[in-house]
Amino acid sequence: MSSQQDNSDIIIFDTTMRDGEQSPGASMSHAEKLDLADLLEGMGVNVIEAGFPAASTGDFEAVSEIARRSKEAVICGLARSTESDINRCAEAVRHAARPRIHTFISTSPVHMKHKLRMGANAVLEAVGRSVAQARNLVDDVEWSPEDATRTEFDFLCKCIDAAIVAGATTINIPDTVGYSHPEEYGRLIRTLRETIPNSDKVIWSTHCHNDLGLAVANSLSGAAAGARQIECTINGLGERAGNAALEEVVMALNVRRDSLPFKTEIDTTKLSAASHMVSRITGFPVQYNKAIVGKNAFAHESGIHQDGMLKNAETYEIMRPEDVGVAKTSLVMGKHSGRHAFKDKMISLGHDLDREALNEAFVRFKDLADRKKHVFDDDLLALIDDQLAAAGERIGFDRLRVVAGSEGPQSAHLEITVDGDSCVAETNGNGPVDAVFNAIRTCVPHAAKLDLFQVHAVTGGTDAQAEVSVRLKDTGIMAMGRASDPDTLVASAKAYINALNKLDNRQLKRLDQ
Ligand code: KIV
Ligand code: ZN
Repeated sequence: MSSQQDNSDIIIFDTTMRDGEQSPGASMSHAEKLDLADLLEGMGVNVIEAGFPAASTGDFEAVSEIARRSKEAVICGLARSTESDINRCAEAVRHAARPRIHTFISTSPVHMKHKLRMGANAVLEAVGRSVAQARNLVDDVEWSPEDATRTEFDFLCKCIDAAIVAGATTINIPDTVGYSHPEEYGRLIRTLRETIPNSDKVIWSTHCHNDLGLAVANSLSGAAAGARQIECTINGLGERAGNAALEEVVMALNVRRDSLPFKTEIDTTKLSAASHMVSRITGFPVQYNKAIVGKNAFAHESGIHQDGMLKNAETYEIMRPEDVGVAKTSLVMGKHSGRHAFKDKMISLGHDLDREALNEAFVRFKDLADRKKHVFDDDLLALIDDQLAAAGERIGFDRLRVVAGSEGPQSAHLEITVDGDSCVAETNGNGPVDAVFNAIRTCVPHAAKLDLFQVHAVTGGTDAQAEVSVRLKDTGIMAMGRASDPDTLVASAKAYINALNKLDNRQLKRLDQ
């Protein structure tokens, strides 16, 4: 897509792997980034911001590999305005069929004074120099004035003008701290377009953070004012309260085409799978009432609503669940279901597994069906999440027996595998969960502290699987682990192990920086 402001095409720029990964505790492995990039490209995302190549070797390698594998999508890397950042970024994206360098510098008084410790003239000089350098390396250069919405208007115009003169092809206007509101943000984009010479030669872009819950509204207001690229993330992941959620932006444009006359190339039936993948990879659960992809987004509880729905779904649904990839029926199979039906079901849930992974998933499914009468879609998704999370990790769960109840002490007998060796621990605790976590600490001594422990039911019923989230924190690094099992204590042990594996990967990554 290479549209200008006079048409109705909106470029969807996904920054889940860059801004999203900056979310505390949300980092992704190399393999996870490749899977996500494949999914985003297959879904029709136009620009994938795959990382910040100068930040670490891991980021550099992920951006390079995503660039190599890309077909249609523009692959973008982020760079500060320094010569070394821009060279590193160019080196990473150069393998892409359509490479882009996105370079930025802060322009607001507070950022220039306290963060950059640079005067306005030095910043202005850096804008022209950095964009010109990037433009010598690739044809597609995006420039962002960080904290644009708190920047003095005349200075913002000067910087943008300098970026356009130096060859920028996209001008992005970040609401870095989520401070703006729709009317103001739209007015800013419109006034900039009207004021800056040659503004019609570039694509204007929105990048809105959600600190006031206005990121999607601001992005849409920006589009109404002439922006033709919207930067967003799956599930709204991102720094602090996150970025504009891709699925919300896309569905708002789809459902309200009557008054928001824009189109995107996104295959909306993949939105649910994308949300699920990002939640699995990061360990961040999706809020139940989250728009478009939350568990309750299409659930109708009250009698009046259910009655209306039975008469005509349009009474309470403004879009169909299948439009965003949510299957209508959720009751799937029992223990007599065969391998073929299981494979079809997995594909319909967005998991086209290879032979080995399918065999393993089928064994897990049979085991679950023996323990649980009805196996729902959500159970299967939880099952496959656990399988993918455990694959190739350092620490693996084997077996657990727990003594719980009102007569203490509660105790755990745990068997796990650590670096290929089996470890057995017998521990007591202040309650069964504490006993289980003490057993893990015995086999894998570590300094990380438990920062969050949360239990949800995957489906309804007393035999529902428990989905446990565990967040561990160690000297500024956080990792979220998640796992499910009909036994809450087994799920707790697996979730803790999952978090520990992720923490381990993150610590290795930090050593690399
Ligand atoms: O929020 C922000 O300002 C950013 C820039 C780097 C574009 O993420
Ligand atoms: Zn941002």
